[in-house]
Amino acid sequence: MRKLKLDELNRASLSEFKEQDKLPIVVVLDNVRSMHNVGSIFRTCDGFAVEQVCLCGITSQPPHREIEKTALGATQSINWTYYADPIQAVEQLRNEGYTIIAIEQAENSVMLNDFEAQKDKKYALIFGNEVNGVSDEVMQMIDACIEIPQFGTKHSFNIVVSAGIVLWDFLGKLIVNGS
Ligand SMILES: C[S@@+](CC[C@H](N)C(=O)[O-])C[C@H]1O[C@@H](n2cnc3c(N)ncnc32)[C@H](O)[C@@H]1O
Repeated sequence: MRKLKLDELNRASLSEFKEQDKLPIVVVLDNVRSMHNVGSIFRTCDGFAVEQVCLCGITSQPPHREIEKTALGATQSINWTYYADPIQAVEQLRNEGYTIIAIEQAENSVMLNDFEAQKDKKYALIFGNEVNGVSDEVMQMIDACIEIPQFGTKHSFNIVVSAGIVLWDFLGKLIVNGS
């Protein structure tokens, strides 16, 4: 098989991307430490045409050389906001009508494969710190918690891998195969 050349991928230009419909999802980063993870989240959100990234707490903000190493320009295409306090971010998103969901391993979580995303809703998906996860205060404010099943020896996935899995699943449920 011949691999496609870059100009055969037919990607949107920056201005076309700004105009196109987005997946009705805001990705919230609750105190994410690694700038490389932040940049990779931007690139992943660009790939799935996510509406917005909301950076909170110690999460670094663009422009930054270390974020750009993995974002590869996606900080230009994806709209982003910053809140020093993740609680204020969640309150604001709730006021804007988003269903608030932690992506986390928690008691009474719903497994991703069992979660029924609804096409008439918009979602704020909160991903947590590399060591401490989603903060306890934020966990008190959520409408639901989604957990990704794991079958190996490690306790958790990398945050960016988690985002890729969850966004792909939501894309299928909301747009591609949504009922
Ligand atoms: C490396 S994990 C944090 C692990 C940390 N030990 C904890 O207590 O949550 C970073 C983030 O990735 C996401 N994550 C990783 N594995 C996950 C899983 N199996 N289900 C849901 N979210 C997961 C969560 O958002 C988590 O806060």
